[in-house]
Amino acid sequence: MNFAQLFFLALAFLTCTADADLAHKKGPSPQQPSQPAGFEFDYIFGRPIHPGEETYSVYRKKHAEEAAQKMGLPEAAVADGMDTWHWWVGVDNPGFWQDLSKLSAGKDNYTDFKVDFLHLLLTLPRSERFTKLGLINDPDCVAADQPDQFGLTLDRMKDGTLVWDPGKFGYSSGVIGLQLFKNEKFDPQKWDIKKYLDDPTSVQPPYKIGMACIFCHIGLNPLHPPANPNEPEWKNLTSAIGDQYMREGMVFGLNLPETSLIYQYLNTQEPGTSETSRFPMDFINNPTNISSIFRLKDRLKEAHVEKITPAQAELIRAMYKHVGLKPDDFTGALGGTESEPTIKVPHVLTDGADSMGVVMASVRVYVNEGMMHDQWYPSWPINPWGIFKSFRRDFGPKEFDIPTARKDPNSPWMQTEPLMPNMATFLMSYDSFPLSEAEGGKKYLSEDETLLREGKIAFADHCASCHSSKKPNPMPKDLDAQKKAWRELVLSKDFLVHNYLSDDERHSVLEIGTNAQRAMGTNAMAGWTWGQMSSQTYKDMRKPIVELVDLDAKGTPRPLYNPLTGKYDLHWKGHLAFYRTPTLVAIWATAPFFHNNSLGIYNGDPSVKGRIEAYEDAAEKLLWPEKRLGPKSIKVTSSETSLPEMLPGLKKYLKGLDKMDLKLVSFPKGTPVNLIMNVNPKHAPKLVEAYMKGVLQGEDPTHFQNLIDRRREEGMLAVRQKLLELNTCPDFIEDKGHIFGENLSDHEKKALIEYMKYF
Ligand code: HEC
Ligand code: HEC
Repeated sequence: MNFAQLFFLALAFLTCTADADLAHKKGPSPQQPSQPAGFEFDYIFGRPIHPGEETYSVYRKKHAEEAAQKMGLPEAAVADGMDTWHWWVGVDNPGFWQDLSKLSAGKDNYTDFKVDFLHLLLTLPRSERFTKLGLINDPDCVAADQPDQFGLTLDRMKDGTLVWDPGKFGYSSGVIGLQLFKNEKFDPQKWDIKKYLDDPTSVQPPYKIGMACIFCHIGLNPLHPPANPNEPEWKNLTSAIGDQYMREGMVFGLNLPETSLIYQYLNTQEPGTSETSRFPMDFINNPTNISSIFRLKDRLKEAHVEKITPAQAELIRAMYKHVGLKPDDFTGALGGTESEPTIKVPHVLTDGADSMGVVMASVRVYVNEGMMHDQWYPSWPINPWGIFKSFRRDFGPKEFDIPTARKDPNSPWMQTEPLMPNMATFLMSYDSFPLSEAEGGKKYLSEDETLLREGKIAFADHCASCHSSKKPNPMPKDLDAQKKAWRELVLSKDFLVHNYLSDDERHSVLEIGTNAQRAMGTNAMAGWTWGQMSSQTYKDMRKPIVELVDLDAKGTPRPLYNPLTGKYDLHWKGHLAFYRTPTLVAIWATAPFFHNNSLGIYNGDPSVKGRIEAYEDAAEKLLWPEKRLGPKSIKVTSSETSLPEMLPGLKKYLKGLDKMDLKLVSFPKGTPVNLIMNVNPKHAPKLVEAYMKGVLQGEDPTHFQNLIDRRREEGMLAVRQKLLELNTCPDFIEDKGHIFGENLSDHEKKALIEYMKYF
């Protein structure tokens, strides 16, 4: 995000708030208890549980018992961690989501862009939530058969399913991961549902809605697909695979017209991805897939020693002390010396940026979902509640300061920290989803030993060096002997057992070659919002400036694809960036591939057959690069789109803007979305200037008004060229790169595809 969206949001604010930063964000907010002291009312439950019906309690118990039996994990800790993962909203994130719904609702705003879960739940029926948005309905709820005492037709929890303190964890909203909390500011005298739906800023609703981790991380269980994905049962769900079908973009943009640029930006977001830098934006439109979390315990054996600063070491020590972990805890072991401390960590996140241990990585995400939002907002490059300050620092970022967040022993951060060790234990409880155990899965598995052997050898020769956590031990020095050792290892009987199927290393985008936008993200660099949560090693690795390249089907580097010329002639330099090798565990079930879910078809079909079809398509495109979409995978607008007419307030701030009618600034159908999105709005004046120059073609500025209609094309061409020049990461092709194994024979490729179905 990026030029258009925040530009507009920000501009809307400039338009409607005259001179001051939004008033309500003054100073630190009082501690918000999740449960109000004010008006009391009863939550209305739905029908009672039917005998034998599986509820969350049963699901949780079964999972914890299994984790104890099969993995030796402490049962109570797994169960407790699961509650946190499923329902904890970091105390005050409901306030964040309410702030956003107010922000995106103002009458003068770009009204259809809605971040309003209450509105969504009231207007999108349960029977359409998966179909339209990929949201997972809570099996413990039923659709409301009549409105409650406030006229709300929210789903109801079945009577008997509430087994936790609703003051701490809320009530289920009907969608897993969105929890209802009674709103302390609710006043029944003032309440009017019609008024709310029309304008959420006009009246306080009975409930505020918080987001828990599970909202994105729940998924349909590949082994037991639901008969009706809109009405899953618990046995059809699994809590750490990631919602591969979620259409997060459309959660915010469901009712937008196609002619809106915001719609285009949101609608081109790949299913199964989340744009985690949407709010603390880095001006790169880089949604990334909601990672599966498998074999975390095996992955932790691959942890890497990273340099951190003495201040970071002190911070981690204080955190561990607070939560009862030893400094050498295996989820992030401190080491080194006092002046040169280190921490041994897994490389969490697609780009390996979260590198301060599992506890830190997890608390950080709570902030990214709105915990301690009043402290967080000022670190956003565009802070809508402090827009003038953002404007004055050229939409530059700031670090979220952890010591400040930890100062008050009762802060949401401090309340969340102690919950993290059990949550980490819970996250260690997922192994794999073997196709052989899926309903009807066996028929997709080849039993041809010769073929599988060929597949294993291809994997040993071309893939295992990155996609295995087991390595030949000792690793021979000479290359031929290494190759032999890898083959022996991969051919051994238990190669796949306890294998995380990744080295968990960061690999340069120049080597991997996949779309670089995500890796180029800046939020974990020094000075940016997550600057204090990444290691010094990560920051140092990002320092070099390199020319970003495209790899052709044979792996030869060439300049980037230029959508304005249709040629590979774009030279662009940026910070070196990395992708961490993802696991290939259960890869048969999680296509399309890559961090951007862009390689292979998306069929939205969670059946075993549907998953295998998607896997086979993606795997073929992986190994036969010539079958890929290439430039056709660029995200482009599906209709002519224009900048919304909302800039009057900006005119006084941006020179030249007063001279133009912004309705004329429109982009033809087929314009690359990221041409527009990947630009810092501080450059708006340059774009205006380019537009004017394009229209004038050297003529006197006084002729602008006369020429503007005739030279619209020239004006817009100049804008497009300027947008390309100012782009924060002009890497447009989404399904490029990672062409390892392309030189195998067709037969070997087929064998490899069959072998990987066993992962
Ligand atoms: C809005 C969607 C969303 C929510 C809610 C969410 N996540 Fe995630 N999560 C993601 C995405 C997307 C990724 C991959 C991000 C990346 O790699 O850069 C991810 C990745 C992770 C990973 C890293 C996995 C790995 O293998 O490196 C962890 C751990 C994680 N999330 C924990 C959490 C926790 C803890 C919460 C709750 C506080 C949470 N997530 C809530 C979307 C979400
Ligand atoms: C040099 C290290 C390296 C080698 C060798 C390598 N990979 Fe990868 N692989 C990666 C990285 C890094 C990514 C992540 C790229 C991204 O998401 O943009 C990846 C991604 C993938 C994915 C997508 C996973 C997902 O969840 O979306 C698949 C499938 C895959 N690799 C298979 C293979 C196969 C098969 C081979 C051998 C023919 C191979 N890889 C060789 C590093 C490697």
